[in-house]
Amino acid sequence: MSSEGTATGSRVTLHVVSSLDGFIARKDNSVSWLDGNGSAYEAGVSISDEEIAAFVKSVDCYVLGSRTYEHALELGWPYGDTPTVVVTKRKLPSKRKSVEFYSGDLKTLVDEKLTPRYRNIWLVGGAMLSQRFLELGLVDEIRLTIAPVLLGDGLRLFGGSLMEERWVLKNVVAYKNGFVELSYSASNV
Ligand SMILES: NC(=O)c1ccc[n+]([C@@H]2O[C@H](COP(=O)([O-])OP(=O)(O)OC[C@H]3O[C@@H](n4cnc5c(N)ncnc54)[C@H](OP(=O)(O)O)[C@@H]3O)[C@@H](O)[C@H]2O)c1
Repeated sequence: MSSEGTATGSRVTLHVVSSLDGFIARKDNSVSWLDGNGSAYEAGVSISDEEIAAFVKSVDCYVLGSRTYEHALELGWPYGDTPTVVVTKRKLPSKRKSVEFYSGDLKTLVDEKLTPRYRNIWLVGGAMLSQRFLELGLVDEIRLTIAPVLLGDGLRLFGGSLMEERWVLKNVVAYKNGFVELSYSASNV
């Protein structure tokens, strides 16, 4: 897929939050570094609860690797009742009605299961699943949020064996809390 999504207009957006030094998780999985308090950037924008709610409503489907799923259950499920596909080869306990499990070819997942049903598809990690999607050319947009912190160690976002590939910067938003959101489209858009 990639480029302009599919004929039906579906798009796969990879969204992750990274530290300044490229980690998406601490070794012990703790997430306090995602807390934006304490780094005020006056020129930045802030978003209202209404804007957050409208944004969340615009997502039609989330896609997660199994480790991200397990961590999300521990932390308090952030994906509401939005349909969510968890990629795993294991038989995991189903804790929520909105979740379905998938094991198999990822291109088949996108082409035959996701894009016929959903337009705004959000791949939300973790590193392993994101890298596989990128290697297979299944991502149309990367939305990378940089947190104002060096972690020094942890799980690398792009630690795998990705090929050199140019992406096109589409938008930059700096927030009052010091986080910066970078949006890129696949270069052949
Ligand atoms: N900062 C952020 O924005 C962000 C976002 C998401 C996650 N995270 C963090 O990242 C960590 C998890 O990331 P991770 O890279 O370790 O794991 P992950 O990508 O969430 O999950 C990896 C698992 O997904 C399944 N999987 C991946 N590719 C597959 C394929 N091609 N076919 C079938 N199954 C496949 C496998 O599950 P099975 O082993 O079950 O078969 C694999 O073990 C957590 O700490 C989480 O909190 C951070």
